[in-house]
Amino acid sequence: MNDRVVVVGSVNVDHTVEVERFPRPGETLLASSLRSSMGGKGANQAVAAANSGARTSMIARIGTDSEGSRALETLQRAGVDVDAAERVADAPTGTAWITVSATENTILVVPGANSVWPERVPRFDASAVVLCQLEIPLSVVESVAATTVGTFILNAAPARPLSDDVLRRCDVLIVNEHELAEVSGHTDIDASDTGGQIAASRSLIERGTTAVATTLGSRGAILCTNESTLVATAPPTPDVVDSTGAGDAFCGVFAGRIALGESLGAALRAGVTAGSLAVRHPGAQGGYDGFATLATLIHDTPEITTRPNR
Ligand code: RIB
Repeated sequence: MNDRVVVVGSVNVDHTVEVERFPRPGETLLASSLRSSMGGKGANQAVAAANSGARTSMIARIGTDSEGSRALETLQRAGVDVDAAERVADAPTGTAWITVSATENTILVVPGANSVWPERVPRFDASAVVLCQLEIPLSVVESVAATTVGTFILNAAPARPLSDDVLRRCDVLIVNEHELAEVSGHTDIDASDTGGQIAASRSLIERGTTAVATTLGSRGAILCTNESTLVATAPPTPDVVDSTGAGDAFCGVFAGRIALGESLGAALRAGVTAGSLAVRHPGAQGGYDGFATLATLIHDTPEITTRPNR
């Protein structure tokens, strides 16, 4: 077993405003607070994977600005190997502009250095569990997918059309319910329509991916293979503070647990538990340092159930 996770992805500084409700187009509202913290789907997932116990490294593109230095320190403090994270002089570190209202958020990303990659992707441990997202150029993700010989996990966020070549290399494609609709083209699925989500997942499996995991917010997650669907119900989480980064907590812990040799079902249950812990803290990486205690918290998460696909 190769117990390593390699994350190839984005690093951002998150600027988050809290509002009572989202503004309408053309409307000005007063926010109740502003804070900045480290984020980026790639960095969040790397920190989550490292905190789940897997040896984790990150390949990223970060500006030479002070935000970039802060981001690197945050990753290092979490135990992420950043030897292959390159500083680029001609673009600032990526930023995300986040609005949080009650349990929901909206996010705009300015990629900056996240979009400046060399033509050849830097060398990485291709036998590791490799985890990508879509906040870096698609050509980089395609080349990483083609090079990986270990387990390739793609979090299709933000959603974009994916080629059959990439889907064929995906061992697990991770999406939320909106991304599932967009990536599969099944745009009419209702949030509570598990049958529709399974049908959309199976259409992606027909195009090549081995499994599709869909995160369902406070309801948990499902993971479809061609034969069956694993259902992970989230534990009750009454105290939601900020859902930013909950999906990344799921992805990082899921990948970390797979790297540590756990089954898809066990990794799914750990991922759902991590997501429910993350939403209790402000900021994308808030609460991630508690993932070492997942072994005790996981008992609040119902056992996985399996249903055959018809
Ligand atoms: O998934 C949450 C993340 O999305 C934030 O940290 C933000 O940086 C954006 O990348």
